[in-house]
Amino acid sequence: MSEVDSLKIRLEALQTEALAAFAAAGNLNDLQQLRVQYLGKRGALTEVLKGVGKLPPADRPVIGQHVNRTKAALATALEQSEAELAVKARAVRIEAERIDVTLSGRTAACGALHPVQQGLDEMTAIFSQMGFAVAEGPEIEDEFHNFDALNIPPEHPARAMHDTFFIKDSGDEPMLLRTHTSPVQIRAMKRFLSEAGEPPLAVVAPGRVYRCDYDVTHSPMFHQVEVFKVDHDVSMAHLKGVLRHFFSAYFEKNVPIRLRPHYFPFTEPSAEVDIGCVFCAGKGCRICKGSGWLEVLGSGMIHPNVLKSVGIDTGKFSGFAFGLGVERLVMLKQGIPDLRLFFENDVRFLRRMGVTK
Ligand code: DAH
Repeated sequence: MSEVDSLKIRLEALQTEALAAFAAAGNLNDLQQLRVQYLGKRGALTEVLKGVGKLPPADRPVIGQHVNRTKAALATALEQSEAELAVKARAVRIEAERIDVTLSGRTAACGALHPVQQGLDEMTAIFSQMGFAVAEGPEIEDEFHNFDALNIPPEHPARAMHDTFFIKDSGDEPMLLRTHTSPVQIRAMKRFLSEAGEPPLAVVAPGRVYRCDYDVTHSPMFHQVEVFKVDHDVSMAHLKGVLRHFFSAYFEKNVPIRLRPHYFPFTEPSAEVDIGCVFCAGKGCRICKGSGWLEVLGSGMIHPNVLKSVGIDTGKFSGFAFGLGVERLVMLKQGIPDLRLFFENDVRFLRRMGVTK
């Protein structure tokens, strides 16, 4: 067999082998390796070419053509395999990344206002709609605003360490965590008078208060809303009218109220206010202990000493005031049995309350 023929046979064998290998390649990486193996600088085709140099010059063009054809055939086959593998790879990737668009999405957990805050906002809004201006005061108070200006005598039990959180202060005056929102009466009256000079003034003051207490119905921190109005000829009738409107608005139904004589140092006369039991409509149940009434707040006509402490002329002006416990009203409205639920922050409870708004 001539040298030329033997080279031709080698070329054909090489082509057959290479095409089979390309077709069998499983991925683009393998294919790249095969390209090097057959068409690379030190590849199989180059190896064959070395034999061409040894041929007599007349034979070289013939075999040269064969080599070129083989080269072209391999290149085309490579390209085709490459394209096929690319399509396959893409299909595999798409399959792997498949998204089930029919699944429900992951919703971001969204917070809600705490039920006590919701109650505070609701109550404040009702008074604000009646024309009361919203005021706030400091939670760290002095004795003057928390006690003295409110006509609370030095021997009053609330002034004892076991009832009130006193704060040791380096200054002369002892400070305390306010025990009620009533000191805002004093602060708001002073501020208002310095701006407007004279009543009328009507204020709602929501906020946090503190007492040394902890059981099923008491927490060392709780919330109150203080409401008061000072004007010419303000009477108990105004107090009762405002309360009636408030309770009906808050409970979203007609709620009967009654005032019982009571004593508070900062009001004269004073009254405790009961509402008809919202659970049994006054018939008597476990919650109202059979009485048909629920005690909800303290109220009265602002004591002349309180008005005098901020320089209001008690000959010309009078006022009513009341203070209510926010937690208690929210419990009554939402049917919450234990005050401590508000402060444990169990998300199951908070979630149930969060959707009530
Ligand atoms: N400050 C009282 C308390 O915390 C509640 C209160 C009673 C407020 C009578 C008032 C009022 O304004 O007139 O127990």
